[in-house]
Amino acid sequence: MKSVIDISDLTRIEIDEMIMTATDIINRPEKYSDKCKGKKIATLFFEPSTRTRLSFEAAMYDLGGNVLSVPGEALSSAAKGESVADTVKVVSSYVDIIAMRSPKEGAAFVAANNATVPVINAGDGGHCHPTQTLADLLTIYREKGTFDNLTVGFCGDLKYGRTVHSLITALSRYKNVKIALISPDELKLPNYMKTGVIEKSGMEYKETDNLESVLPELDILYMTRIQQERFDDKAEYERLKDAYVLTAEKMRAAKKDACVMHPLPRVNEISVKVDKDPRACYFKQVENGKFMRMALILKLLKEAENPVKEDLLKNTETFALTSGCENPRCISQTEQELEKLFKIVDKKAGVCRCVYCEKSKKV
Ligand code: NCD
Repeated sequence: MKSVIDISDLTRIEIDEMIMTATDIINRPEKYSDKCKGKKIATLFFEPSTRTRLSFEAAMYDLGGNVLSVPGEALSSAAKGESVADTVKVVSSYVDIIAMRSPKEGAAFVAANNATVPVINAGDGGHCHPTQTLADLLTIYREKGTFDNLTVGFCGDLKYGRTVHSLITALSRYKNVKIALISPDELKLPNYMKTGVIEKSGMEYKETDNLESVLPELDILYMTRIQQERFDDKAEYERLKDAYVLTAEKMRAAKKDACVMHPLPRVNEISVKVDKDPRACYFKQVENGKFMRMALILKLLKEAENPVKEDLLKNTETFALTSGCENPRCISQTEQELEKLFKIVDKKAGVCRCVYCEKSKKV
């Protein structure tokens, strides 16, 4: 049995296979219409969502299965203070698979360790969002036919944008992908992503705050929303919220076959006039998301026929630290009696990383 917390829980081969399954679903949907007959998914969403929750639910219905849903944290026992571990232990006894979204970074990891059914991370705070990446990858595959040799620009909130973190992680495994990180200084990609993913993979990258300066060289422009809900300082959000607005005029400088992506929701960062541009791919991502979630549900339910859980920390040396993680959004700040586990990053420099939210700590 396997859960998907981070996109790297899926190998490149597994992703290729899922793209093949999704393509077959697109071509022959009737073949899949009762593949999940008698199966149930729980969608536990403790943060706002339209697309992700509905696409998981539509995916399960299109596979002939059923859905149990918690309509937000306020209406679940989480509001009474129930831990993530207890919530998923309970829900595991009703369903065959769980999709969970939480504002707490590392919540899906804790859920996977405690559930007796597969858990899919549908977004954990500003950390990661692997199923949006599956939607993004199918979109790139359908538009470009490859993941190799692409130049991809990520623009907007690279600090809190979990979809950015997961897509960069996925792209770092392909050949000759170059990335441009376009953000204001305050919203740069977190260090653990830069050192732990980009530099480790050897992927070529540059950082800039100027979209126009890199736009002409991009094969893909991945725009993102400034993540208002993650800001501690609201005045800072007000100052940064309109940092980038992609207009039809700016699109004149983009490649003729460029592809503009956005995980949505859009607030103001892409003018609606760009929607008519054939290079706008963001509504295609939404559609592709359902097909990839269908492929993922099928795969995880098949693997769950073997009840032995895949170890999420396999090959990782961990140790407990009483002082704990310093990230205020980390699940370890609130979850009852959760062991404060860290993995070693640099023994000599005394740097370790929280296993839940991945933020670094010096010891
Ligand atoms: C994204 C998310 O929730 O991280 N939305 C989505 O799932 N498609 C992006 C966002 O909220 O800005």
